Amino acid sequence: MVTSLVVLYGNTIVLYRVPLTWSRWWCKRAHAGLLFVAMVLSVLGVCAAFDFHTANNIPHLYSLHSWTGISTVALFTLQWFVGLCAFLLPWTPLAFRARLKPLHIWMGIAIFILSLITSLSGINEKLLNGSNTKPYTALPAEALFANSLGIAVVIFGLLVLKLLSSQKWKNPESEIETDRQKTGAKLFSLMKLPSGSLGHLENRLFGEEKVNATMSLVLCQQ
Ligand code: HEM
Repeated sequence: MVTSLVVLYGNTIVLYRVPLTWSRWWCKRAHAGLLFVAMVLSVLGVCAAFDFHTANNIPHLYSLHSWTGISTVALFTLQWFVGLCAFLLPWTPLAFRARLKPLHIWMGIAIFILSLITSLSGINEKLLNGSNTKPYTALPAEALFANSLGIAVVIFGLLVLKLLSSQKWKNPESEIETDRQKTGAKLFSLMKLPSGSLGHLENRLFGEEKVNATMSLVLCQQ
């Protein structure tokens, strides 16, 4: 679960911010593809936990860890399907993409924080309920390892959140794309007006917007 919901998830959501030489097309596919792997691994993790509880006669979904865990995996799956439909399928309206993007980013960060909480509570639960020969208070090797893993999760989580909140690391191409989507949406809504004509559009769009509109039309035709 830590591999899928913290390591893979954390690395993939900062992918747009890493100064890679990849095109935006490749960044989008890598973001969606790696998050799909994380989603599959997290669902497998939940199935394994359910099987383990059934086999050992432990009740399901009784702890805070299990509640945050099931919510994280459910929201993660929902976010992935909505992200796929909105940003990868070519027929999604541009206005919808532009409107959804801030919510998608906020949800992505919120689910990541939930993942961190779930991982830390899971580590703690294992330590308190674990079948060690020595008690947790004696700090056996297993407890030392689990405590260190928890600290590593906290440090990694804080680094990812710092990267995501820093304006300095934002890719300028993503701002340009949002502007293009907004202008493209405006252009299409103008084109649907009964009096819509090139002259009419010329009167409504100015300078930078005209350039963006042309680029949007070219991109939408691709
Ligand atoms: C569980 C699944 C997903 C999560 C948790 C997630 C999370 C995030 C986060 C946190 C960001 C902000 C990145 C940044 O500001 O640098 C983001 C951006 C974005 N995501 Fe996702 N995402 C998911 C699935 C998808 C899918 C399937 C697509 C489809 C291609 C997608 C497309 C995008 C796009 C286009 C952006 C905007 C990037 C930008 O313009 O800077 N996401 N996502």
